[in-house]
Amino acid sequence: MESILLFSRAQLRNEKNLTANLANLSAIIALYMEDLNWAGFYLMNEGELVLGPFQGKPACNRIAIGSGVCGTAVAEGKTQRVDDVLALDNHIACDAASRSELVVPIRQDGEILGVLDLDSPSLARFTDLEQSAMEELVRLLEETL
Ligand code: SME
Repeated sequence: MESILLFSRAQLRNEKNLTANLANLSAIIALYMEDLNWAGFYLMNEGELVLGPFQGKPACNRIAIGSGVCGTAVAEGKTQRVDDVLALDNHIACDAASRSELVVPIRQDGEILGVLDLDSPSLARFTDLEQSAMEELVRLLEETL
């Protein structure tokens, strides 16, 4: 987790372009966090989430607010950590291999800009450690906005 924050800090210190930063942050997470099948971003666009830079299999392009784990993170304005996505009524299965998920909202000037979304093929993959590290990463990203 330390490597992810170290490389993310270096990336964000040297570049302010949002697309470049999201692309490299998703690559850094995918490279240094074990047991993930998807890591990336969805960004708010005309009232819904639209797919942004990511690493993993092709994913759904658009997610309505309140729908799935990502849409719930936007609707509630807080991190969602789901130990077993199959136990959820409204999980959106982009990749059938996903079993647990961590979604952190990203804010710009108090408004939700988008979300960071991590998926794992393992049940309960994400702990307090991953949650606080990814919330810290999002905080670093927000400082560049
Ligand atoms: N499973 C997510 C959708 C996005 S994919 O995981 C990449 C959700 O329920 O919001």
